[in-house]
Amino acid sequence: VKPPLETRALGWALTASLFSLSGAWLAALLIQMMPSSGAAPTSASSPASASEIVVSPELATQGHEFFEMSCSQCHGDDAHGDEGPDLHNLSISNARIAATIKKGIKGEMPTFANKYNDPQIAALVSYIRSLR
Ligand code: HEC
Repeated sequence: VKPPLETRALGWALTASLFSLSGAWLAALLIQMMPSSGAAPTSASSPASASEIVVSPELATQGHEFFEMSCSQCHGDDAHGDEGPDLHNLSISNARIAATIKKGIKGEMPTFANKYNDPQIAALVSYIRSLR
């Protein structure tokens, strides 16, 4: 006559834990749905976005000057290509162009990481992006 009682106890325990589980799940869901008000500004100003390249047409003129100083001897006047490739209509991303300028290409192109800072590289990328 014992089993039924134990089964019932087990049943209750199961039901109880199911309830508390779904309660926790509901709470988690509610927390997720709440607008994360405090988090957004912190992440926006975090240094993680420091490598972000902000390109703008106004920067292209400055970028052109840098280009004539450092890049045209290989990429040609106005970037039409010489020893280095033509840089018009590049299909690679801005981030990729910036990384190439920073790191250079082994045996092909020098690194410019210690010559140009991020805003200056953004100007260079802006110039290259303006080449159509
Ligand atoms: C010493 C010569 C040299 C100089 C200086 C140089 N480059 Fe290059 N660059 C190259 C060569 C060569 C390649 C192609 C390498 C390859 O494809 O393997 C290249 C590739 C690139 C690419 C990649 C193009 C693509 O289609 O993926 C970019 C962008 C670029 N250069 C930008 C610049 C910029 C901006 C400067 C100046 C800050 C610069 N380069 C200075 C020789 C040079």
